[in-house]
Amino acid sequence: MSDIIKLLPDAVANQIAAGEVIQRPASVIKELVENAVDAGSQGINVHVKDSGRTLIQVIDNGSGMSPTDARLAFERHATSKISCAEDIFRIHTKGFRGEALASIAAVAQVELKTRREEDELGSIIAINGSVVEKQEPVQCAVGSNFMVKNLFYNIPVRREFLKTDNYEFSLIVEEFQRVSLAHPEVQFSLFHNDKEVFNLPKSNMLRRITYLFGKSLEKTLIPVETRTNLVSITGFVAKPETAKKRNSEQYLVVNHRFIRHKSFYAAIMRSYENLLPEKWQPQFFLFFDINPGEIDVNIHPTKTEVKFKNDVQISSFLEAAVKEALGKFNVKPSIDFEDDQDYNDMFKSLDGPAQLPSFAVNAGFNPFESATSPPPKTSSSTRWKNDFNDNISNWETLYQGFENEQQQPQPEQSTLDLGIESKAQETGSFMQFRTKFIVTAVKSGLMIIDQRRAHERVLYERYLRQMRQDSHSIQHMLHPHVFEVNPTDFMLLSDALEDLRTLGFEIEEFGKNTFAIHGIPAEMKPTEIEGRLNELLQSLREMRLDSKLEVKESIARTLAKINAIPAVMQLSHQQMQELVSDLFMCQSPNLSPEGKKVVYILENDELALKFS
Ligand SMILES: Nc1ncnc2c1ncn2[C@@H]1O[C@H](COP(=O)(O)OP(=O)(O)OP(=O)(O)O)[C@@H](O)[C@H]1O
Ligand SMILES: [Mg+2]
Repeated sequence: MSDIIKLLPDAVANQIAAGEVIQRPASVIKELVENAVDAGSQGINVHVKDSGRTLIQVIDNGSGMSPTDARLAFERHATSKISCAEDIFRIHTKGFRGEALASIAAVAQVELKTRREEDELGSIIAINGSVVEKQEPVQCAVGSNFMVKNLFYNIPVRREFLKTDNYEFSLIVEEFQRVSLAHPEVQFSLFHNDKEVFNLPKSNMLRRITYLFGKSLEKTLIPVETRTNLVSITGFVAKPETAKKRNSEQYLVVNHRFIRHKSFYAAIMRSYENLLPEKWQPQFFLFFDINPGEIDVNIHPTKTEVKFKNDVQISSFLEAAVKEALGKFNVKPSIDFEDDQDYNDMFKSLDGPAQLPSFAVNAGFNPFESATSPPPKTSSSTRWKNDFNDNISNWETLYQGFENEQQQPQPEQSTLDLGIESKAQETGSFMQFRTKFIVTAVKSGLMIIDQRRAHERVLYERYLRQMRQDSHSIQHMLHPHVFEVNPTDFMLLSDALEDLRTLGFEIEEFGKNTFAIHGIPAEMKPTEIEGRLNELLQSLREMRLDSKLEVKESIARTLAKINAIPAVMQLSHQQMQELVSDLFMCQSPNLSPEGKKVVYILENDELALKFS
């Protein structure tokens, strides 16, 4: 048999290698912007079209390249940044592999114009799928101007794997933020489809953070500073009240490179111990300066993971520095977090040693009253509002339009067979436990419902229906309310405008990073509008918008969260009855919109066992 192993053609080998480095438009941005920083640029301007699918352009005023270097730059393993293995441990640049440009050129159509200061003429070079199409002299500015067109034009499958424009662009923003945060001394800008998203002048660390992540952060940042022989750590941590459950702004930058590092995250979390509820994430922006010989950056293709020789020691410096900073500013535990008590806690009291029973029954509850009270006929929305004083948002009445719909035949998907036709339901014997849970008997046992989560589920499904039906009532503002946001939020809110319109918001773009609000849902107070929109934005930011459907869902989820009754609140018997009835009209009554358990049934057998 003849030999069967063949060397792959260069173009194919390059495409395969590119898979490691270039996965999506954001990877191109990362590599080109990092190169521009390495070239000593003072200004770096990025233009993106269609979330990078059709064009990514990075223009810098750095060192530029000679005609020969411009050609060599696209070869694999061609780099000016290291020349031997030891150099990897002396590295001060972002790049060192000589892989990025070769990878980009293998999967796109690339054009580079570049000139060094000492040259009169620059060069233009065009490469399509690793093949050099032209190289000639050209008049151009000092620096480099890379245009990457039609990414993955020669790998249709990779193109198909890209997600929505929104999602891809949010990743581009993330990469842009990481590099520009690490270099406040450099001017950066980012344009998307000719619209300015960021324009960051040269500045200091604090200014750069607020330009990138919003001015409101400034008031909450606490400086951190520690300098030892091994490492110096500077930057900011945010007060606990700005912590989030997900997607907090958490930045670790080592020698101007954004990295992830588990034990450093853990150290920071320890510093916040007792200041945050479990699993909440603080926000921080911490910059490490360390001898490059102390770290190994060559352990991950995207160089975001770094090994430290003295990992443990640095972690303890870090923990001490953050603790000290928080202590100095006399930071107190935050009290405003949602009470997210676990069900297990509740049952501890049932299982544990003898205690006084804490089954606190609603004082206003009259067990005989319910036997005569008829089951609710209409949606409970208006009554919730009237009975629940200020805790219930006016937005509730948005849903009056649903009264009819609620009486329609119920979907068959109702996932829990609760035997709700049982005695308990007929007589409506509901009790409230710790002003948090609704307890009632069902066929199979004792049903316990988390009242807040139940209400979130009810509202969530209503909002979704309302968005589908486009039924709303608007109050028009006498004068438009002007609402200014940061560039990322501008993009997020712009994308949500259409869906918000179906809920009664009349909002339009009004110049750079600004919206004009012309109308709001009829029941909303004009003074609430900014707060509500900010809450909505926070949530949109946290949820990765992966498809159009998810925009709707996240709006519904957020509004449900904002408007649901508090986790702990006394309910009248009628309110409990209505909530339970609304809940079991939902398609998925057993889970909250965030996927948490709403209903728990203590089975008859289980209960019997407790008394055996
Ligand atoms: N914007 C730029 N200005 C000046 N020179 C550049 C620029 N971009 C790339 N180069 C030159 O091209 C070379 C190859 O770039 P490439 O990004 O492929 O590799 P690298 O940066 O050395 O390593 P890595 O693959 O880790 O990024 C660089 O070493 C540098 O000499
Ligand atoms: Mg590079």
